[in-house]
Formats: sequence, C-alpha cells, structure tokens
Amino acid sequence: MAFYRSRIERALDHWLPAATTPPRTLHEAMRYATLAGGKYVRPLLVYTTGRTLGVTPEALDGPACAVELIHAYSLVHDDLPAMDDDDLRRGKPTCHKVYGEAMAILTGDALQSLAFHILAHDPALRISPERRLRMIDTLAIASSSQGMAGGQAIDLEAVGKELDLQELENMHLRKTGALIRASVILGALAHPTAGEDLLRLLGTYARCIGLAFQIRDDILDVEGDTTVLGKTRGADQVRNKPTYPALLGVEGARRKAAELYEKALAQLTPLGRDADPLRWLTRYIVQRER
Ligand code: IPE
Ligand code: IPE
Ligand code: MG
Ligand code: MG
Ligand code: MG
Repeated sequence: MAFYRSRIERALDHWLPAATTPPRTLHEAMRYATLAGGKYVRPLLVYTTGRTLGVTPEALDGPACAVELIHAYSLVHDDLPAMDDDDLRRGKPTCHKVYGEAMAILTGDALQSLAFHILAHDPALRISPERRLRMIDTLAIASSSQGMAGGQAIDLEAVGKELDLQELENMHLRKTGALIRASVILGALAHPTAGEDLLRLLGTYARCIGLAFQIRDDILDVEGDTTVLGKTRGADQVRNKPTYPALLGVEGARRKAAELYEKALAQLTPLGRDADPLRWLTRYIVQRER
C-alpha cells in the first residue's frame, strides 16, 4: 500500500498543473483537493487489479490518476453547501472553505476534464486505440447520470424520505459503486488482452466491494472517530441522510457488509494466489477505520 500510495502521489503531482501556473488559484485548489490525506482506495484497486493480471505499474499510473481525479472532484462538489455542506475533509477545511464556492465548483470541473485528458493522452498506456476508447467510455459512464452523478442526485432527493432497501442499494451502487467498479475494470483494461469472461467476473467482484465500501462509510459516520476519519462524524444523521445503518441498524449494516465481502472473495477464486493483494485490499475496504 505504501509503495502504491507514494506512486500515485507522484503520478498525480506529474499530471496536475503546478500551483505556479496561471490561473494559480484554480491550480492550487486542484492540488489541495487531490494530494495528501486521501486513502487512494480507487488507485489501489487499479494497481492491484492490474498487478493480478501482470500489468506493469507504469501502465497503471494514468488510469489510477484518472479515477482518483474523478473521485476528488466528486468530493469537492459533495461537500458544497448546496450538497452535504461539510466543513472538514481529510482532516482539513473543505475546498470551498479555503477557496470559496465558485472556485470549488471550477476545481471539480477541471479535475474531471483532466481525468479524461489523461486517459486519452497517456503515452505509458500501451494498449490499442479501441481499448483506450473503452477505458474512456467506462469512466464516462461511471461518472455519468447513470453512475456517480445520478447516485448523488438520488441521494439529495432522498433526504427526509424513507428509501426501501432496494432503492438504497441502487443509490449506493451508483454514487460510490460505479467509480469503484470502474477502478477495477480500468485496471483490467490496461492489460492488452484481458477478455470478456474475466471482465465480467471482476465486474461482479467490484459491484460487491463498491456497495460494501459505502456501507462501511455509512457505519463509520455513526461509530467512527472524527479525528481518525478526517471528516465530521454524525453528518449523515444531522442531515437525515438515507444510509444502511438508518435502515438496518449498525449490526444489520455490518452483516450486509460481511455478506458482500464473502461474495466478493468468492469471485476471486478462479484467479488463484495471484489475486492475494486484491483479497487483502478487499478486507481493508470492509474493515477500515477511516
Ligand atoms: C469518501 O470516499 C466518499 C465515498 C464515496 C464514500 P473515500 O473514503 O475513498 O475518501 P478519501 O479519498 O479516502 O478521502
Ligand atoms: C459521497 O458519499 C459519494 C460521492 C462523493 C460520490 P458521502 O456523502 O457519504 O461521502 P462523505 O461521507 O461525505 O465522504
Ligand atoms: Mg454525499
Ligand atoms: Mg458527503
Ligand atoms: Mg458518508
């Protein structure tokens, strides 16, 4: 994890414009929102999936940056007063608290564009143009109204309403699951020839961990520690957010995450020992404390 985390920070530092490049405030805000403090779970999934299939880290840096930039953008917007209205992110003031709301909106916009530029441009990605296009499309769909943005819309409209379990699952699969799934699929697409059967199996695996990831996030909002989390505990309850603990209780949510963990692991069986790092990361996702 330490190896890949320092690797992703170096790659992000490479692709993000320097804070001294005009427009300076925007570039500074993009760096503020992206570097230092995140867990980099999505890049770790890209690297680990790619590694399981024998892809070199050099070929995974670009896709890993692309998913993390989309994620960072989603958090900057998620924290805005019009959305979750949060002041604390990764132990620091949220982007709009430091740079203002207008600049935070633009920061998200620019991070998103940079993600697609990297996938289109990265010379270290040694795959066919068709496969590169499929990567771009995978990330586009995952971020779209069918994916992350759509899930966020459902989240906002659900405040104060009772979602049933199926609606809640649908919301989580979109707002968080879609990008987690894209991370795994991008890692596999970085392999020049990984086939459809493998992509399907990894897709099912990723669907399970994507949902488990948000369930763990919901649980930590109830019983985590603000200083460890780096974001304010209890924010969901204050805002009456639809969450797994709200619907199933903390124990019920924990059971659901454990079921998903087992189901995710079962998908990895055909990959043998090569998938051990992916198994380790899977456990981390459901057991993490931040
Ligand atoms: C938080 O994501 C938002 C969700 C999608 C649940 P992370 O828990 O991955 O946040 P960072 O990047 O590590 O701060
Ligand atoms: C965030 O969900 C999902 C996205 C940013 C797409 P949350 O609103 O639960 O994330 P946190 O808890 O603020 O990190
Ligand atoms: Mg939110
Ligand atoms: Mg939030
Ligand atoms: Mg949350």
